[in-house]
Amino acid sequence: MEVTVNGTTHRLGSEPDVTTVHLLRENLDLTGTKLVCGAGVCGACTAHVDGVPRVACLTPVTAWEGTSVTTVEGLRGEHPVQRAFAAHDALQCGYCTPGFFMEAASFVDRWRAGHGDTAPSRAEIGAALAGHLCRCGAYEGIYAAVAAACTRGPRCR
Ligand code: FES
Ligand code: FES
Repeated sequence: MEVTVNGTTHRLGSEPDVTTVHLLRENLDLTGTKLVCGAGVCGACTAHVDGVPRVACLTPVTAWEGTSVTTVEGLRGEHPVQRAFAAHDALQCGYCTPGFFMEAASFVDRWRAGHGDTAPSRAEIGAALAGHLCRCGAYEGIYAAVAAACTRGPRCR
């Protein structure tokens, strides 16, 4: 089977009876994708599959055959929401941050395509990030960063 990750196509042997988070971290050395709960509830293992955020901890590699996967490494630190997280101190230990990046980047892109540079409400941001947990409680900064990225405020350019 083949899977494309961050633009590189990998041909896998007969071994891929593993979860996708295992493939990313252990086989491809893409350790930005985190394994925390392993149960599909915290969002730390989120990657984009054909442009849609998906958790990687419960999904067998075979389910992503033929897809195009983007991990946090694939954002290359260039998405506005990543710069906004830094500007708004939206992290403490940072372990949840890659998962938030992937979900928030997708939300910001969708939001801007549909609403231009108007700001989403707090409830709308909360709904978009509902599948993600931050044990450090950095939510105020996270919400502020996502709002700033949506409006392309001067601090996130
Ligand atoms: S590690 Fe996958 S959702 Fe928590
Ligand atoms: S910054 Fe530590 S878990 Fe979110």
